[in-house]
Amino acid sequence: MTSRRLFLQKLSAGVAIPSLVSFNSPTQVTSKSINHFLQGEAFWGDLRKKFPLQNNRVYLNNGTFGPSPTVVLEALQNSFVETNISGEYGHIGSEREKLAAFVGIKTSEISLTHNTTEGINIMVWGLPLQAGDEVIITFHEHVGNALPWLNRAKLHGIVLKPFEPKATQAENLDLIKSLVTSKTKVIAIPHVTCTAGLVFPIKEISAFARSKGIFTAIDGAHGAGTFDLNLKELGCDLYASSYHKWVLGPNGTGFLYVGEEILEQIQAYQVGAYSDLGWDMHQNPPEFKGYVPTAHRFDYGSQSLPMIRGAVAAANFHVEIGKGRIESRVRELNQYLFEGLAEMDSQLDILSPQEQESRISMVTFKPKNMDYQQAAGLISQQGFRIRQVPESKLDAIRISTHIYNSKEEIDSFLEVTKNVLV
Ligand SMILES: Cc1ncc(COP(=O)(O)O)c(C=O)c1O
Repeated sequence: MTSRRLFLQKLSAGVAIPSLVSFNSPTQVTSKSINHFLQGEAFWGDLRKKFPLQNNRVYLNNGTFGPSPTVVLEALQNSFVETNISGEYGHIGSEREKLAAFVGIKTSEISLTHNTTEGINIMVWGLPLQAGDEVIITFHEHVGNALPWLNRAKLHGIVLKPFEPKATQAENLDLIKSLVTSKTKVIAIPHVTCTAGLVFPIKEISAFARSKGIFTAIDGAHGAGTFDLNLKELGCDLYASSYHKWVLGPNGTGFLYVGEEILEQIQAYQVGAYSDLGWDMHQNPPEFKGYVPTAHRFDYGSQSLPMIRGAVAAANFHVEIGKGRIESRVRELNQYLFEGLAEMDSQLDILSPQEQESRISMVTFKPKNMDYQQAAGLISQQGFRIRQVPESKLDAIRISTHIYNSKEEIDSFLEVTKNVLV
């Protein structure tokens, strides 16, 4: 019996994958020592046991939602119970510091949001733009980056300049440079597209944009928790992301990075408790003493401490494994999947780039001889959670893999897909 078939049987029986090694608070690693720590399938199989994720189907849709490990759920539960026992809902202090450090920025540069889209809306509306100003964007936006920009274009007359991405990082950098005019004010692209999982060279694009006085406002929905992300090294001005995808944190948590150099240029439109330096309604006229000198001005009022504690637990989970090691594993699984799909070239076209640097955690393909929805339905019926990609009229299927997935799961997916596609 092939290992794939054996594995499929285990899946249908809901049996956990056996593991050989234990996961004892591993040493933190730097990217230089990643390979030393990559311990093969047994290590990652053991890590999978840290997730309550069910074993009777294969979850391949982390690009939409990242299921949390148990440690995150416990942090959430404990904090919800604590706050309700004491009646003290708590303030967010050290949590903000930890979440900022997780992506290499200062505590004063992070605003805590509920999702990527909220962060994008804050930056879209806060940027100093006038009618006629141009914004470079792609044809491959998620609705969360498309609609806020379309909305501002509609209301303020800014001009969106969408482009079709190329297949390599060098080509995309050149293309973006070629689209810049004297009216370009913002480059508002995703770090990783939701369609084909294409990775843009944000570091090079940001350095170029800065040299031209152009803002970089990045949709980082797929950037935190996949890359060994350090936003200072990336060098963009603004970056919005969520904890509920690749960071594996609670659903409904996210952050916005606002670089300290541009903080005063980004107007806060929604403010409340903790946004201000003081106010006095008894002055004549009533006085607003100004904004706090941090990105905290963009989030306001009561925040959910339990949810933020859950996000911190997720960030700690990554740090304990090693962010560099996670990036390596995510890339390894992505390449494994890509190569497996590439063998089916008579049955499907891969829409994700061939170049490895232009991919990270998702592969998208289009069946050659079958309707994509029909194919997706048949694959799903066999126990695989996948995502259809109607965006940009791709009519394709997207597969996302994260650290809880195994090569065995990918093998079983490939075998089923080969049998389903004509
Ligand atoms: C590229 C991209 N941007 C933005 C979003 C929206 O994220 P959120 O639901 O956290 O607002 C998604 C969600 O899938 C996405 O893929």
